[in-house]
Amino acid sequence: MRIVFVCLGNICRSPMAEFIFKKYAAERGLSDKLEVYSRATSDEESGNPVYPPVKRILSEHGIEGEHTARQLTRDEAAVADYIIGMDEGNIRGISRICGGMYANKIRKLCDFTSRPRDVADPWYTRDFQKAYEDISDGCCGLLDYLEPLLRKKS
Ligand code: 4NP
Repeated sequence: MRIVFVCLGNICRSPMAEFIFKKYAAERGLSDKLEVYSRATSDEESGNPVYPPVKRILSEHGIEGEHTARQLTRDEAAVADYIIGMDEGNIRGISRICGGMYANKIRKLCDFTSRPRDVADPWYTRDFQKAYEDISDGCCGLLDYLEPLLRKKS
């Protein structure tokens, strides 16, 4: 199953989601059933590395990883099973890239939690801990949703 996490720049929230989700999936023994990556809706940060405060907070949680920002393409969207945005703006950006297609696989991360909401955008709030907590909550909810589907598939 292919999951792509998407935010505006692909330097803060979506790489954080990619790395946290991969860690939680590994802890549940689901890594070999998943292909997980992250992309941007804009090309503003294309080629840039993960934003240093995000690297720092991931490192504090035992997660190390490198990533180079890239914009989502319609071809990538076509082959993904789930395209997961962080906020309402991301959902609009993804839908624009997809030309209005694939609505059934475009979802918002924290809609998989008991408290549906946007992930707090740390670019504006500067609160990277809050973003980490929202994303962590969302990744757990998404895995709870996917785990039975993944186990049924094999
Ligand atoms: P991200 O954060 O979408 O979580 O990667 C942002 C990165 C860059 C900008 C906004 C948000 N920006 O306006 O350049």
